[in-house]
Amino acid sequence: MNRRNFLASVGGFIAYETMRRNSLEAQTVPAFKFDPFTVGVASGDPAPDGVVLWTRLTSDTPVGVNEIPQVAIPVSWEVATDESMRHIVQHGSAVATPELGHSVHVEVAGLKPSSDYFYRFHCGGSTSRVGKTRTAPAFDAHPDHVRFGFASCQHYEDGYYTVHREMANADLDAVIFLGDYIYEHHVTYPPTRKHDVDLVVTLEQYRHHYAQYKRDPDLQACHAAHPWIVTLDDHEVTNNWAGMSTSPAHPEENFLQRRAAALQAYYENMPLRRSTYLGPKGLRLYRKVQYGQMAQFTVLDTRQFRTPQPCGDRVKPTCEERERPEGTMMGFEQEKWFNETLSASPTTWNIIANQVMVAQLDIPQNGVETHAMDMWDGYPAARKRMLDFLATRKPNNPVYITGDAHQTWVSDLKRNFDDPKSPIVASEILGTSISSGRNGVDHRPVSDMLMKANPHILYSHSRRGFFLCELTAKAMESQLWTTNEIEAPGGHLAKTASFVVEAGKTGIHQES
Ligand SMILES: [Fe+2]
Repeated sequence: MNRRNFLASVGGFIAYETMRRNSLEAQTVPAFKFDPFTVGVASGDPAPDGVVLWTRLTSDTPVGVNEIPQVAIPVSWEVATDESMRHIVQHGSAVATPELGHSVHVEVAGLKPSSDYFYRFHCGGSTSRVGKTRTAPAFDAHPDHVRFGFASCQHYEDGYYTVHREMANADLDAVIFLGDYIYEHHVTYPPTRKHDVDLVVTLEQYRHHYAQYKRDPDLQACHAAHPWIVTLDDHEVTNNWAGMSTSPAHPEENFLQRRAAALQAYYENMPLRRSTYLGPKGLRLYRKVQYGQMAQFTVLDTRQFRTPQPCGDRVKPTCEERERPEGTMMGFEQEKWFNETLSASPTTWNIIANQVMVAQLDIPQNGVETHAMDMWDGYPAARKRMLDFLATRKPNNPVYITGDAHQTWVSDLKRNFDDPKSPIVASEILGTSISSGRNGVDHRPVSDMLMKANPHILYSHSRRGFFLCELTAKAMESQLWTTNEIEAPGGHLAKTASFVVEAGKTGIHQES
């Protein structure tokens, strides 16, 4: 750690301690002259007895201007069994501090399992919109089904959040979001709609950026409709960052300061438990969320602890560094936790919420085999450790849900991808994107070439959308919903394909 980074981390610690003190001394504020709730409400990480409720006080002003008083502000909250908020079952007060961007993270407990609840916040004479959430089933319960949507990658400048509008209207137990919630950079072509800040680096800029994204009505509706289980990928900080450094292809000064600012802003803007935020140490994002005896969501963090991409990052032929046994995506502590968590899982389904493609992807270029070094393919030793564990310990029905690629890829994961007789140990559904990559196309010839070179990949598709998954005791059915139009408002989604994994059997199949 150099001197500047050391001083930044000391500064972060002082701010963190100040925040803890201020939270004890919240002041009441006069009525706001504006709506402080324009970034909406959210809920997350459901448990059988409760859920996290989130909001953040903001003023809709240019970056650098903030009309929220820079003091600790009490925000009251209510939970009801009806949308009109007449039958209040719990209420309380939380403190929004300037040190944490006036965010509010309430961990409600004492609710009933598998139940719908409604919630809202009050502050300074204003009242937020009403959000709906749903608790998880009791740990020993056997629900008939668990339904969830999953999605990732929503560059604001690439298009509208039509896909979120559709997910908001679906009957879901939860939404799983797999990263690239924001993009820190602007696009190099004419944008569909423009970021306020071209390059996001400081805490103030990240906060403003989240507020701009969250003022989108469709994104806000999807947060208000379902609890979300979130994890981050690279663009919440910067392209292809890895652990405590940037990608070797994108060196950057003062990265640790930017990383700390970005991770803090992420926590401030997501419905995460308060224990997620470790101050200057970063975030504890890897965790499990259990839905009765039906499903465990094992949520990974393959950014904060990974070793740098080998061979200089990007798409390259292999090199010695790529084969190194010490290469890791999760870090060794998280790898151990992963094995223990999956070993102890009692559920029929083990859904692994993961950022980047697990399946091997040989990319032939001019007769040479190349690999995308930022994906699990850049870390074959780490992938082998993970898939060997699944092959030998055999947790029930593991299925990876993945983001990042801005294209749908459905694959079987083999213990040895190069051996046609090698057993399938899990399946992977890589969902497309909400908006990143703009409208996409109906068919990419390169996809055919890649599927031929990688026979464990069963399906690809290049339009924007999300996956809607239903788990039962017998099967996991996953429907791909896509649209041809997100560069203009009002696009329609249609069911594009459907895939089944049968419980107790390996392999994913497309339904005719
Ligand atoms: Fe992305």
